Amino acid sequence: MTDISTHILDQRMRSPVYNASGVMCRETTELEAVRHSDAGALVSKSCTLEARDGNPEPRYAATPFGSINSMGLPNHGYRYYLDYAAHYDYTDKPLFISISGLSLADNLHMLDAFQRLKRPLLPEVNLSCPNVPGKPQLGYSFDDMATALTAIHAAMDIPFGVKLPPYFDISHFEMAAEIFNRFERLKFLTCINSIGNGLVVDTDSETVLIKPKNGLGGIGGDYVLPTALANVNTFYRLCPDKQIIGCGGVGAGEQVFQHILCGASAVQVGTRLWEEGAGLFTRLNQELVAIMQRKGYQCLADFRGKLRTL
Ligand code: DHB
Repeated sequence: MTDISTHILDQRMRSPVYNASGVMCRETTELEAVRHSDAGALVSKSCTLEARDGNPEPRYAATPFGSINSMGLPNHGYRYYLDYAAHYDYTDKPLFISISGLSLADNLHMLDAFQRLKRPLLPEVNLSCPNVPGKPQLGYSFDDMATALTAIHAAMDIPFGVKLPPYFDISHFEMAAEIFNRFERLKFLTCINSIGNGLVVDTDSETVLIKPKNGLGGIGGDYVLPTALANVNTFYRLCPDKQIIGCGGVGAGEQVFQHILCGASAVQVGTRLWEEGAGLFTRLNQELVAIMQRKGYQCLADFRGKLRTL
């Protein structure tokens, strides 16, 4: 028997794979589809204080190697996801709630409402939305990120996590890790959000693919796998008391295996889930099991974080 179960904090997941925030999680019908699938958990769409329509369309496009998006935080407002979390059956699978306020005050207000539910939900505070014009990604401003985390940590009685942008420089990994390690109730780091503000060009029409921001948008899919794995493995090494949730470039069981080998305790899927739908999770579980059987691994702990260097 091959066991692919995992834990985030004390919560068991039957499988390590689930949706990345932003995909199949804006409507309760979509959240329910992930809940009824072979995903091991689910995360809601990043929410704001008030409902938002998001950016003008087209705002997502698939390419042969991945995707580009500039959704602009379309969501029903946090009360909609609060209601879902209030009525959720937590014995089924873990529920993560993504919070992406437009200010620190908004984040504190929403986090307070969610923790007052006194349910075992897992807040994922988004420090990395690249798509709201005029709002820089907090994860790239270390002083502002430290200020925000200090206030959030002081206000939180329950454990929480953060969704991070990709980092590309060793000094930035070290500065970010030093900040995260200050906060004891910050228990998990989700690496990575999309690579922000890329540009995909169509040669025939000589145009961009999406309308907002002159065509700039967050890049996901195959393009981002090496960056995602670098972030997972570097924070796994630098933040030994945190759990790492991998995200980026997962299209098959092989990439789930690689994320876990780099140190991930769970693995999210964005672009590929958008393209393939929730049946994807059945396939990823089967492909992961097949790789583990070929290698003689019985459980994820047999290889988690055991990436070898030369
Ligand atoms: C959106 C995109 C993100 O990458 C994110 O983290 C939050 C929101 C969006 O455009 O809706």
